[in-house]
Amino acid sequence: MGLRDDVSKILISEEELQARVEELAQEINATYTDADRPLLVCVLKGGFMFLADLTRHLDMRHEIDFMEVSSYGAGTVSTGVVRILLDLECNIEGRHVLIVEDIVDSGRTLDYITRNLSTRRPASMRVCTLLSKPSRREINVPLDFVGFEVPDEFVMGYGLDFAEEYRNLPFIGVLKEEVYQGVVE
Ligand code: PRP
Repeated sequence: MGLRDDVSKILISEEELQARVEELAQEINATYTDADRPLLVCVLKGGFMFLADLTRHLDMRHEIDFMEVSSYGAGTVSTGVVRILLDLECNIEGRHVLIVEDIVDSGRTLDYITRNLSTRRPASMRVCTLLSKPSRREINVPLDFVGFEVPDEFVMGYGLDFAEEYRNLPFIGVLKEEVYQGVVE
């Protein structure tokens, strides 16, 4: 039994993902210039694959940095508690910041990150998320670039995990119920 046997269905195929990531990159290319030299802030761990594909399609000069926050533990439901596990290396004062997320669910993580980063006085701050689950939103956070809106299903793959696995799958899939039953609080 491999990881793919735990997938009940493919929600967004590898081809659809790649095409949409390229479109998002074109939108971002139209937003910033070389002179802006934006800083892409990848939110780990989930954002790593999206950032890697996105950055390859960007034309303007830019830099990348990483931040890791944690709110979920091994379960699937946000506790609302956000902790910074890894902070940025860069000083973002006066910089054009583009936050790169894999998914916005309740919005709590992003709300925390945007409030935290805005105290550091960036020149501008925008958000690019591959996925958004609007039906689960508890805090409304403005999103500038959104890849796909997804239904309230247990999605994983392309950076998104369940209990730290499945991140390597090249598509967005839905996990079989029996896989997470008994693990989720
Ligand atoms: C996921 C995801 C977002 C957050 C979204 O991260 O990457 O950062 O949850 O949920 P929210 O909108 O309800 O706050 P997670 O804490 O699972 O960490 P990971 O990226 O390391 O898997």
